[in-house]
Amino acid sequence: MLKPEPDVAPPATADPQFRADVLAGLARRPRAIPARWFYDHRGSELFEAITALPEYYPARAETAILRRIGPDLAALTGEGCAVVEFGSGSSTKTPLVLAAVAPRAYVPIDISGAFLRESARSLAAAFPQLPVIPLEADFTAPLTLPAAVAAAPKLGFFPGSTIGNLAPAAAVDLLRAMRTSLGADDQRGAQLLIGMDRIKDAETLIAAYEDAAGVTAAFNLNLLARINRELAGTVPLDAFQHEARWNDSAARIEMHLMATRAVSFVVAGLPFTFAEGESIHTENSHKYGARDARLLLRAGGWTPVREWLDDEGRFAVILAEALPPEPAP
Ligand code: TRP
Repeated sequence: MLKPEPDVAPPATADPQFRADVLAGLARRPRAIPARWFYDHRGSELFEAITALPEYYPARAETAILRRIGPDLAALTGEGCAVVEFGSGSSTKTPLVLAAVAPRAYVPIDISGAFLRESARSLAAAFPQLPVIPLEADFTAPLTLPAAVAAAPKLGFFPGSTIGNLAPAAAVDLLRAMRTSLGADDQRGAQLLIGMDRIKDAETLIAAYEDAAGVTAAFNLNLLARINRELAGTVPLDAFQHEARWNDSAARIEMHLMATRAVSFVVAGLPFTFAEGESIHTENSHKYGARDARLLLRAGGWTPVREWLDDEGRFAVILAEALPPEPAP
């Protein structure tokens, strides 16, 4: 009788959706694996490290803007709103918004309960008077907010240029879902504070996703390590190289894992072959010019009210309002 081999058997924790996405993504042309699978424990640690890199200007630029706009933001949002953050909350950006607008409650929404509870705990400690009501949910579809904030006007917060990780059509769908989730059509109305990275010279953009210390490379390559760990993969990591490309016609940075030589391997019992130079597309980061950003928001049902840039004009934070649809002429 064959005994299971512990060193190749996938762990019982392997997510069946991870297996399905990886197998389908490697079989497709062009090959692509959904970016959500970057974020295992190691991937999340590496992502934290990315946001501290000297080349990764978006995090610093956005934080500098939020630090500066507090009084303006408070004047535009008014008092007593509920801040609803799409994502589990950043330890530096979220407190800046909460301190500025003095909300009635804070509702962070994330699909990962573990991250959500951790960040909700640290924010509750920093703002002892503030009701923090975490919601474990998928915010890409319309959702019901906790009853405790039903009566408050809502301020959605979506920092980090995360909107840019979606293709424009999916970004519009998400903006519309947020509009519905925030109760935009009830009398209270809703606002959205969103961060978007701007189009700029390709050199600066590429450097932000291909840093000299190799942290973004390690982050991208960790996906292959995760495949080996969780899906009984034999992917030779030394045959793949991290690459950040600027796709000018789509106005986006693309991250790829490129085969530096012809290579064959197995994942979950299935064979795969790469020619030299073939790649797996692992992430997009779309960049938006001033008018692009406003058009995207309008297409998603949001009217831009005010926008702020960092001193070097690299990054935009935009406040938008969900207005009732205007009658067509
Ligand atoms: N949304 C940010 C961006 O596109 C952060 C981010 C998401 C990111 N995935 C990434 C940064 C992968 C580096 C690599 O810039």
